[in-house]
Amino acid sequence: MEGPSVNILELLKSLPHHASPGTDWLCSEHQYPWYARVFQTLSPKSILEIGTFLGYSLATAAVALPELDRVEWVDNEAYLEGSNRLAAENIRVARERAGYRPLISWSCREIPLDAAERQSYMELVHIDGDHRKDCVLRDLQYAFQVGTSCIIGHDYKLEGGVREAVVETCNRLDILHYVLDDFTHGLFVIPLVDHASVLMKLARARVGRISVMPPHGGK
Ligand SMILES: C[S@@+](CC[C@H](N)C(=O)[O-])C[C@H]1O[C@@H](n2cnc3c(N)ncnc32)[C@H](O)[C@@H]1O
Repeated sequence: MEGPSVNILELLKSLPHHASPGTDWLCSEHQYPWYARVFQTLSPKSILEIGTFLGYSLATAAVALPELDRVEWVDNEAYLEGSNRLAAENIRVARERAGYRPLISWSCREIPLDAAERQSYMELVHIDGDHRKDCVLRDLQYAFQVGTSCIIGHDYKLEGGVREAVVETCNRLDILHYVLDDFTHGLFVIPLVDHASVLMKLARARVGRISVMPPHGGK
């Protein structure tokens, strides 16, 4: 996608359902345009998202990834009753405007109780729901149960529990993670396959400084 920054922001502002104008996270050059670059770098065909609100991140994926096939999300509608239906509409409209084939989409309000039996592998999981540590730990556990090649998540650098949950999980599994430091509020990336190539591609994707976080602080 050539120069996605302007296009993505314009597209999000033009979707049928939007948050209050002027919201910093909606307008930031370092959020949705960078999500587009991260999605293009990882190029998943299926994405599971936990925390979708009005669907901006998935709408970004819908226009950034022509080969995207399936999106699923979990959102308990804590921000806005009925937001899952509005998100579905935003994602559909974004996809239509991009001129790509429609996506298979599915959403629910709670992590399914039969998560362990679902066996529904999703190439990428994006975590952006409740940022308290216990909730992020649960979301990460769900991502591993579903099965994925990569987990990313927002607000790593905000006060809350995102960083603690990611560090604890990565230490337990003895795996590394990356942090896109200049992404608005920080984005973590846990590559589960081919981490060296993911790092190399991200470094080329113009998404600012990347910190490599080895398990146990590299000790
Ligand atoms: C920051 S918004 C997500 C923004 C979205 N990813 C985007 O970029 O457009 C967080 C969402 O998480 C949802 N949420 C909060 N707690 C949750 C939970 N325990 N389970 C699922 N969703 C939750 C809220 O309803 C809200 O819609």
